[in-house]
Amino acid sequence: MTEASPADIAKNAAAEAAVALVEDGMRLGLGTGSTAVFMVRRLAERVKAEGLTLRCAATSKSTAELAESLGLRIEALDEIGWLDLTLDGADEVDPDLNLIKGAGGALLREKIVAMASDRMVVMADGSKVVDVLGAFHLPVEVIEFGWQTTQALIARVLDEQGLDHRPILLRQSDDAAYRTDEGNLILDLALERIEDPARLSAALNAIPGVVENGLFLHICDLAIIGRPDGSVAELTAEGSEEEVE
Ligand code: A5P
Repeated sequence: MTEASPADIAKNAAAEAAVALVEDGMRLGLGTGSTAVFMVRRLAERVKAEGLTLRCAATSKSTAELAESLGLRIEALDEIGWLDLTLDGADEVDPDLNLIKGAGGALLREKIVAMASDRMVVMADGSKVVDVLGAFHLPVEVIEFGWQTTQALIARVLDEQGLDHRPILLRQSDDAAYRTDEGNLILDLALERIEDPARLSAALNAIPGVVENGLFLHICDLAIIGRPDGSVAELTAEGSEEEVE
């Protein structure tokens, strides 16, 4: 068996701490990405060991498949209606717990699920914590029709807002354009710093071909940050950091 990498130990620690927040009877949103994979595994273990009764909605086909393969029953979000808690990863977390998400391509379902939850808890390793969002590429989900026009309109928004950016890239998968679970395309924005994420998010979402962008603003309630030694810290939007173990 190969030894777990420091990053995987950190992700697993964050996932385990997040799964400890789950209570019997809860309605849960299950995130997407490599940290969410740890979360789904730890959750399935708890369900098996403790006989928890949960209702779960998944933020992607891949998460649904993994969860079901581990014995968790996945329901459509609309069958459940409203969720108590969503556990998900993030690409960047700022001190206000604003996030960039979507490296895994699931930003649209992730945002719908998170916003249908009383509480969103992010699990991440320390490399995701930043002072200002923007060094990580910002994904924007767009419909295929007229996507190059949408790309040009996005570039105009970035220029109008004085944001330094490199060429906007159509995300690829193998030799073809990447498709989201909804069949849409993703444009990745390589920026430097996003000083006013609310202004940028509003302007992007006002472009007709844009479905959603990867800025999650004032949605996350708690970030659990795992460390390579297996300890975790909790970050709240009030800026406090608490050692958990
Ligand atoms: C999926 O679309 C993303 O939003 C992920 O939640 C995010 O990219 C974090 O992924 P990792 O846990 O793999 O870093």
